[in-house]
Amino acid sequence: MSQEQWSNVDKYFVDKLVPSDPILEKVLEANAAAGLPPHDVSATQGKFLYLLTLIKGARRILEIGTLGGYSTIWFARALPADGKIVTIEVNPKHAEIARTNLCHAKIDHLVDLRTGRAIDVLPQLEAEGLSPFDLIFIDADKPSNPDYLRWAMKLAQTGTVIIGDNVVRNGAVADPESTDANVKGIQQFIEMQASSPRLSATALQTVGNKGYDGFSIAIVK
Ligand code: DHB
Ligand code: MG
Repeated sequence: MSQEQWSNVDKYFVDKLVPSDPILEKVLEANAAAGLPPHDVSATQGKFLYLLTLIKGARRILEIGTLGGYSTIWFARALPADGKIVTIEVNPKHAEIARTNLCHAKIDHLVDLRTGRAIDVLPQLEAEGLSPFDLIFIDADKPSNPDYLRWAMKLAQTGTVIIGDNVVRNGAVADPESTDANVKGIQQFIEMQASSPRLSATALQTVGNKGYDGFSIAIVK
């Protein structure tokens, strides 16, 4: 198996199942032009998150890690007219690009974009009465994932879906000797999901045009 094959098959699925979308293509172009890291989810993954939102019937979504808003747009498109996605971005430049992208995508009325460290913003969301959320997507700095999961569980209710991006770390997640802070953050994140009696969780490895990675998914019991 090779990256070329994964990309070819991803392209096949995109061509068949993810209709060409000038708005999302423009978003990726704008992100690249602004020098954002290419850490957006792929098109097939974005549609997967969109479908999960519809399957869940989520009305209130929390996203930790906006980047340029590509995944935010996929989520927002699955929301009902009175739905809301709160998305948190630490980098003001990224947040500014995201704000423009969300306007171009005409879903900005469904989005509450907060600029700041998630660990500071999350308590504010609770204080403002914006929880509980129906679906929470954790896709920011990986060493903080254990803190983000603790907050996600505080801001959740029975039935809330908690998704983690980038849980494979090129396979290093299974290396108990790893000293990489990203890997250790993900390992602790997975161990917390394993040991929490409030969660039922699994994880799926993925391949595609973004290489080899994976999602964790959990439901709050
Ligand atoms: C990285 C982070 C992400 O959220 C992602 O989707 C891909 C890569 C990273 O930090 O390497
Ligand atoms: Mg990610």
